[in-house]
Amino acid sequence: MVAGSIPAGVAKFERPAIPILTLLPWDDAGLGLLRAMNTPEQKQHLGGVETEAKLAERQGRYLTYHRPGETEMLRIAADGEIVGSICYWETERDGAPAYETGWEVLPAHHGRGLGVAAARALLDRLRPLARHRYVFAFPTPDNPGSNGICRKLGFELLGVEDTEYPAGVWSPHNVWRLDLRPAAI
Ligand SMILES: CC(C)(COP(=O)(O)OP(=O)(O)OC[C@H]1O[C@@H](n2cnc3c(N)ncnc32)[C@H](O)[C@@H]1OP(=O)(O)O)[C@@H](O)C(=O)NCCC(=O)NCCS
Repeated sequence: MVAGSIPAGVAKFERPAIPILTLLPWDDAGLGLLRAMNTPEQKQHLGGVETEAKLAERQGRYLTYHRPGETEMLRIAADGEIVGSICYWETERDGAPAYETGWEVLPAHHGRGLGVAAARALLDRLRPLARHRYVFAFPTPDNPGSNGICRKLGFELLGVEDTEYPAGVWSPHNVWRLDLRPAAI
């Protein structure tokens, strides 16, 4: 056998290419992304497809979400291609201020690990800026991708509770919580 060659009968392991993931500030192009994400499949766990007026209202609001440590709305880029959105914002939980987070990846890119990678990047971004200890996520119990992200990133499942989303619609949501403080050594 030649040194460095693969022995006969041993399959060569092909490692899938890992995309370079970046989080970009929200800008005017965000409206196109909101439209691309506004499909029945994508909005299955988020209250369904939204009107153009609602998307425009979101776009106006998201353009103001550039407040690190408080509220940030970001676009997810994988190898330079925009593949989704991710955000965090301040909320109140059990009488104390906290963060809430949410994420979306375009259907063509589901299942590639991009949701986990984007959420990890978001938490790494927030951790040094955070002025609150906990970040919460509230996926519906039947949303495997979103619950999968929480589980993979070490969120703790606290239970299920009725939550209002979208406005006026109450349904059961999982309550996931992550402690942003570094673990004690
Ligand atoms: C939720 C969402 C962002 C996940 O993005 P994604 O890039 O497909 O997620 P990932 O590929 O990083 O997978 C995350 C985890 O969930 C699991 N998962 C993803 N889709 C799954 C599915 N359909 N069934 C079972 N498990 C699934 C993955 O296996 C992975 O866990 P693992 O690494 O332990 O295997 C994406 O499905 C989405 O945009 N959904 C519509 C919008 C939405 O519901 N957002 C959440 C609001 S709370």
